[in-house]
Amino acid sequence: MSYTFGDNQEASRRLRRLAEIYEPETRDLLSWVRSMRSSRIQAAIDLGCGPGWSTQLVAEILAPERTLGIDASPRYIAEARANHPGLEFVEHDVLKTPFPIEGAECFLCRFLLTHLESPRAALEAWAQAAAPGALLAIHETERISSPHPALGRYYEMVEQMQRHFGQELQVGAALDNAFAGTDWRVRHSESLALHKAAREMAQLHLANLRIWGANDFAKEAFDRTEIQHLERELGRIAGGEQEGGVVCNVARQVIAERR
Ligand SMILES: C[S@@+](CC[C@H](N)C(=O)[O-])C[C@H]1O[C@@H](n2cnc3c(N)ncnc32)[C@H](O)[C@@H]1O
Repeated sequence: MSYTFGDNQEASRRLRRLAEIYEPETRDLLSWVRSMRSSRIQAAIDLGCGPGWSTQLVAEILAPERTLGIDASPRYIAEARANHPGLEFVEHDVLKTPFPIEGAECFLCRFLLTHLESPRAALEAWAQAAAPGALLAIHETERISSPHPALGRYYEMVEQMQRHFGQELQVGAALDNAFAGTDWRVRHSESLALHKAAREMAQLHLANLRIWGANDFAKEAFDRTEIQHLERELGRIAGGEQEGGVVCNVARQVIAERR
């Protein structure tokens, strides 16, 4: 599997922080899904679950009979099992059907479509795995920006790198179109303007830069001295030595229903 942001210890710690930073809006999204269901949910699936922090929220808020996290990384699946012994985790590619549980009634997709080449192909695969009337909740980035030059440059670079791998950093902006012609009906689609502390975001980005900054594409496309300079600058913001202000992150949240 070629998850661009890796699955080593540093990448895993980064996903833990990411989960903390985006927990409030994920809770709101899942609570909305919960309110759209009158009966007990039999099975819910967290798509691309990583070490299971988003799966834990699915279990807590939707309270399904069975909560399953699926991810292509065996390391993340092993960690998720250790982190959340009461939940189920299976190594599985989210684009491959059948799923380990067929006919689930709820799905969460958080920060996953941004790593897939074709959001539409993913939506089509998930429709096959879903029960009629199932709900799919999505949280993805639509826009991310900062007036701070180091953060602004980081976003340009990560966008360029993801494009190289056929991925879209700001995939949220294309989501409504991706649903057209699929077996999903969009019931709710909202742009949320989130303001996150630059210090916290720089901590995430620094970990990420250390992971992908050494990959073959980055070595070829970016100047090594610039990457080192960026690491220093992000390090200063992350450590609080330099004020970075806030990062404006517009997130797209969608709830769709399987026809
Ligand atoms: C940014 S992480 C998000 C983790 C989790 N959803 C969260 O929000 O905390 C993206 C995850 O998607 C997984 N992933 C990427 N492509 C995948 C694929 N084709 N099938 C399954 N998992 C995939 C990666 O291994 C990684 O764990």
